[in-house]
Amino acid sequence: MLLEFTSLRREYQREGQAEGSVFAAVDRAGAALEAGDFACVSGLSGSGKSTLLNMLAGLLPPSSGEIIFEGRRFSGMNDRELSLLRNTRIGYIPQGHSILWNFTVLDNIRLPFFLQKRPGDPTGRALRLLEQMGAGRLSNTYPGSLSGGELRRVSIARGLINEPALLIADEPTGDLDPGNAAGIMELFAGAARDGMTVLLVTHDPALARYGNRRFLMERGVLTES
Ligand SMILES: Nc1ncnc2c1ncn2[C@@H]1O[C@H](COP(=O)(O)OP(=O)(O)O)[C@@H](O)[C@H]1O
Ligand SMILES: [Mg+2]
Repeated sequence: MLLEFTSLRREYQREGQAEGSVFAAVDRAGAALEAGDFACVSGLSGSGKSTLLNMLAGLLPPSSGEIIFEGRRFSGMNDRELSLLRNTRIGYIPQGHSILWNFTVLDNIRLPFFLQKRPGDPTGRALRLLEQMGAGRLSNTYPGSLSGGELRRVSIARGLINEPALLIADEPTGDLDPGNAAGIMELFAGAARDGMTVLLVTHDPALARYGNRRFLMERGVLTES
């Protein structure tokens, strides 16, 4: 089992309400993913999808419940151990853009490698990833001149640079036209066939068919279909 989570719950204070008025953005979510699984989570906006992914990426502590990744409990790790794990074993592609505009495409992609503080040179791999996505010519470009689909490819290459065991992607096709979105989904499906576990959120149920596991998030409740 690569990733297992049980009874995951995350509470938030309700906006503009009295202190103590909390609701569960994610409530008793559980699942187990194997190496090579491509899990697609769909659900309406506000249903708790990003909250779930942020917990599974080790970025947001759950209010209760357990996350076990590669046999290790998140709750038993301190901040340093958790961020090392995140930087080395988990690729995270956040919702929206996290591009650094003053860095070239190549430097954006190489960045997570340098954050691991491991020796080596990720340049060849970064260029290969770009090439695979049909964007090799962009390596020395600054992101400001790229289209939405090209920016997405940069974020995805950055998520893949460290060859993570688990890739978490939050609506990576959100701002793409259907043709580009299908291309990106194919890319994730290929990574999963190569053994990477992919956990992807989409608000478009039609795209979920690319996954071998399909989940629905409704008002914080996760079910597998
Ligand atoms: N930091 C926060 N504080 C309070 N409420 C939040 C916070 N983050 C998310 N929420 C609320 O939790 C619910 C789920 O949000 P989110 O996980 O972003 O949903 P989704 O990704 O499915 O659109 C929403 O009602 C949202 O307003
Ligand atoms: Mg979201």
